[in-house]
Amino acid sequence: MRTPTPDDRFSFGLWTVGWLGVDPFGTASRPALDPWEYAERLAGLGAWGITFHDNDLFDFDADEATKAERVERLRRATDAAGLVVEMVTTNTFTHPAFKDGGLTSNDRGVRRFGLRKVLRAVDLAAQVGASTFVMWGGREGAEYDSSKDVYSAFERYKEGLDTVAGYIKTQGYDLRIGLEPKPNEPRGDIFLPTVGHALALIAELEHGDVVGLNPETGHEQMANLNYNHALGQALWSGKLFHLDLNGQRGLKYDQDLVFGHGDLLSAFFTVDLLENGFPNHPEGPRYAGPRHFDYKPSRTEHMDGVWESARACMSTYLMLAERARAFRADARVQEAMAYSGVPDLAVSTLDEGETAADLLAGDDSFDPEVAAERDYGFVALQQLALEHLVG
Ligand code: GCO
Ligand code: MN
Ligand code: MN
Ligand code: MN
Repeated sequence: MRTPTPDDRFSFGLWTVGWLGVDPFGTASRPALDPWEYAERLAGLGAWGITFHDNDLFDFDADEATKAERVERLRRATDAAGLVVEMVTTNTFTHPAFKDGGLTSNDRGVRRFGLRKVLRAVDLAAQVGASTFVMWGGREGAEYDSSKDVYSAFERYKEGLDTVAGYIKTQGYDLRIGLEPKPNEPRGDIFLPTVGHALALIAELEHGDVVGLNPETGHEQMANLNYNHALGQALWSGKLFHLDLNGQRGLKYDQDLVFGHGDLLSAFFTVDLLENGFPNHPEGPRYAGPRHFDYKPSRTEHMDGVWESARACMSTYLMLAERARAFRADARVQEAMAYSGVPDLAVSTLDEGETAADLLAGDDSFDPEVAAERDYGFVALQQLALEHLVG
């Protein structure tokens, strides 16, 4: 497999390779490097970009001078390595002040503090030239239904998002917000558990035009949902602004595995969609953003394993891209798709100008008994995908 290059537009969160292995049951299993050291190593592996939370770069209680110095230090490293900082996000989940959320905490003081922290991170994102600002509301939620007035929570979520989106506009920043859904963990239940929920909230926003999605593979799968349908619907809605690729096996804690180390067939079709577009609409809508990985190198790995796992994410993606291209180019696949009726779904159900009344008045020679005997050939088509994947 060829080595990745910046043209592949692979990017990594500093918190991914920088995860020390701290989990609810154990302390760190790896030493901490400085943010710029992770960045330099990622560039060496062929990554194009990096992303970070404000507090991946400086401590929660850092003073302004320290913040500026660390931002400058990272900027020097990324410039030297030719890396792009494509996304910045805020940490409104680690400090215990945020235990009941940032934008939707029952404590108004916390909400004002959280919103200020988010706005400062927006400034930082603009300063380092990021194009996406991710908002993952990991602590926005509840354990107990008695504890939240959900109506008020959504009023406050909307207020917070519109304040941030409005600020981006008044500042003239070239930034878009990517909401990141997740069903649970760290809260028992998180608001905006799925892509669909987030799309519904965006539709209610005043500044929803600059708010879209950052869907993560494992998060949709933790909700037992189809990640590729989530990507597809976000694309259809013009809202796929960014993404977090990783792996998850079943309904468990958030595993954040290497991309492809979860549901491999699903990963194949993720890459197929990203690289080749919708089968009936290859010209668009297409995802043109970074191939961003949000995973955790397993706690069993030491530093060699960290770099190996980053390499694995990219190499899996490249292998799947090659196979997805061959899948689409295969004449047998095109034939199987035609047999399955895949292209026919692009044809509008009504004729041009036809109304519901016309349809009702029209001829009803259609025989459902004949339709019931149709063989769709979906299994044969899927087996061709499997052949390309493992063959
Ligand atoms: C998770 C989330 C987080 C967010 C990150 C960016 O694994 O629960 O993916 O890692 O992506 O905080 O906001
Ligand atoms: Mn995750
Ligand atoms: Mn994520
Ligand atoms: Mn994550």
